[in-house]
Amino acid sequence: MSATIEIDVALGERRYPIRIGAGLLDDGSWRDALHGRHALVVTDDRVAPLYLARVQGALGALTHAAIVLPAGETSKTLDATSAVLDALATLGASRDAAVIALGGGVIGDLAGFAAATWMRGVDFVQLPTTLLAMVDSSVGGKTGVNIAAGKNLVGAFHQPRAVYIDTATLATLPRREYAAGLAEVVKYGAIGDAAFFTWLEAHADALNAHDEDALVEAIAFSCRYKAGVVARDEREQGERALLNFGHTFGHAFETERGYGDLLHGEAVAIGMVLAASLSSRLGRAPAEDTERLLQLLSRFGLPVEPPRAEPDALLARMRLDKKNVSGRLRLILWRGIGKAEIVPDVDEAAVRAVLAAP
Ligand SMILES: NC(=O)c1ccc[n+]([C@@H]2O[C@H](COP(=O)([O-])OP(=O)(O)OC[C@H]3O[C@@H](n4cnc5c(N)ncnc54)[C@H](O)[C@@H]3O)[C@@H](O)[C@H]2O)c1
Repeated sequence: MSATIEIDVALGERRYPIRIGAGLLDDGSWRDALHGRHALVVTDDRVAPLYLARVQGALGALTHAAIVLPAGETSKTLDATSAVLDALATLGASRDAAVIALGGGVIGDLAGFAAATWMRGVDFVQLPTTLLAMVDSSVGGKTGVNIAAGKNLVGAFHQPRAVYIDTATLATLPRREYAAGLAEVVKYGAIGDAAFFTWLEAHADALNAHDEDALVEAIAFSCRYKAGVVARDEREQGERALLNFGHTFGHAFETERGYGDLLHGEAVAIGMVLAASLSSRLGRAPAEDTERLLQLLSRFGLPVEPPRAEPDALLARMRLDKKNVSGRLRLILWRGIGKAEIVPDVDEAAVRAVLAAP
């Protein structure tokens, strides 16, 4: 096994470690994060046949059970949360129980939300198995589910006790899901670190080839970046909102097209290009930077052209975004690579124009 990297999420008494290494699921070290008598593993039906037996095997004498949900965004519902809570009840889980999220962002968000609400909050541990969950969703404590009106509209802040990232699990991840994770990696460079963006341009081929060193470096950079933002602004009073670069556009496409059509990372890739392109049109950023972003995302095999959707319907979705204040469209735009900013009152006509003709 390669050396393990450890990153601290510095949140005072709720601080926790992120550990990154190949083979971490098998070495069972993640069990150190469990303190109670009961554990419920939440996973999905694609991940379960690959990794569930190893995880349950490591739980040994602990009273434990597993719940296996259908894979995909369509499972991120209140009904599925209810099923997880029922499984905790059946297990006889008390306040010292732990919920273990084994899977991608869907499982992490949902299991974390169930852990936040069971007996007003029990421990949870993230064992992310998609690149997107490793670099983004497993860190930072945003948990929740979708309802018909929009993505992630119901949820809670609930930090995990630990995040264990076993990079070996990426070997089984479908290529399209891997690329979707790279979209969030690109996001960190785009919003706050031009040097990392340039590093990604130089290492795009290595990342496409799953080169272990490049991969670990990209994951560690992303986790450090996100951990820093979360430690400074856990509840998204300011800086953390920058992590939503491309997301307001992306969520609108995801919701409008129906969950499950576009992958989240794909929607974010399209959304980042739209946010960059809007920034250029508003005279806030150089058009060449939009082009570099588009090129890098394309090299990772990500979509950069918005799918067909009615601009007014998309705008209506964007108005529902949690970042808006007093009915004004608040978007994350940029001044160029590495320089994202919150823009509180974006002209709707300009947004409609970029949606109609990106
Ligand atoms: N909480 C946050 O801060 C945050 C941040 C970003 C995204 N998200 C959420 O994350 C979700 C998307 O997460 P995702 O992209 O991981 O999707 P996902 O959880 O649906 O996983 C993608 C697919 O990959 C499969 N899979 C997972 N690991 C695998 C492996 N190792 N081998 C083979 N198949 C595997 C899953 O079964 C699923 O079919 C969205 O709901 C999004 O809103 C949350």
